Amino acid sequence: MKHILIDCDPGHDDALAIMTAFAYPEHLHILGVTTVGGNQTLEKVTTNAKNILEFIGAEIPLAKGQKEPLVKALNTGEQAHGDSGMDGPYFDGKDYPVVSENAVRFLYEKILSCPEKVTIVALAPLTNIALLLKVYPEIKEKIECISMMGGGISHGNCTELAEFNIYVDPEAAHIVFHSGIPIVMSGLDVTEKAVITVQEIEELKNKGRVSHLVFELLKFYNESGKQFGFIDSPVHDLCAIEYLLAPEIFSGTDWYVDVITDDGCARGQTFADLRALSGHEPKYMY
Ligand code: RIB
Ligand code: CA
Repeated sequence: MKHILIDCDPGHDDALAIMTAFAYPEHLHILGVTTVGGNQTLEKVTTNAKNILEFIGAEIPLAKGQKEPLVKALNTGEQAHGDSGMDGPYFDGKDYPVVSENAVRFLYEKILSCPEKVTIVALAPLTNIALLLKVYPEIKEKIECISMMGGGISHGNCTELAEFNIYVDPEAAHIVFHSGIPIVMSGLDVTEKAVITVQEIEELKNKGRVSHLVFELLKFYNESGKQFGFIDSPVHDLCAIEYLLAPEIFSGTDWYVDVITDDGCARGQTFADLRALSGHEPKYMY
């Protein structure tokens, strides 16, 4: 059993990751879900998180985090996720409680009070996680690892070199990558191989309320993916959860990975020390 905290910006693939984690209570004990500005504004991604948690009947505490990245203004991903940040399905707007603490304080309290180490599942820009580590550095001892979707070694998707979650807040990513906490990074080299086909999406239609919701999410996401040249849909964030459920389906290498934070064309790029020239300790990269 792993105790996990999910930091996200729903986001179609974030929603799939949350729903999948929720479906395996015998393996994953979800201590809480936190939101951060990313795919859409903090308000919109928090509404989306509320809708998903309410729809699946979860009773998991939800906390809102940072609206903006540490340094730059927020750069949303609405091209991929739509104006709401999770276009496609209709939700009847039933409310879902949001705790009063900011996500950073909430993450700290949940990790501190857990009797065992906690795994952070990071599915969005790393702003909340970076602030957690900066404001409460002692909490690192209680973090088992960070299983994250973000980055990429061979290419980007926000720019030629930078993946969206890192590009939005490279300063936060730099703090997290230099924290010393073991990181399992599911970058684009991994997640773009984890696709759901058009046929598989169709097979979800009208097969029950949850599978039909997934169909509606993926129908929009697949259509939206065509503008980026995708035929099938990479379910990026699902990899960060799937790794915790079935690590055996992944292969990876322990590399030292760093992030570029300056304002040039490589801003937000993650690069791996493939030939171990830096002398730095490797982190896990899958
Ligand atoms: O690049 C993919 C990542 O950006 C995913 O986390 C997706 O939800 C978006 O946030
Ligand atoms: Ca995400």
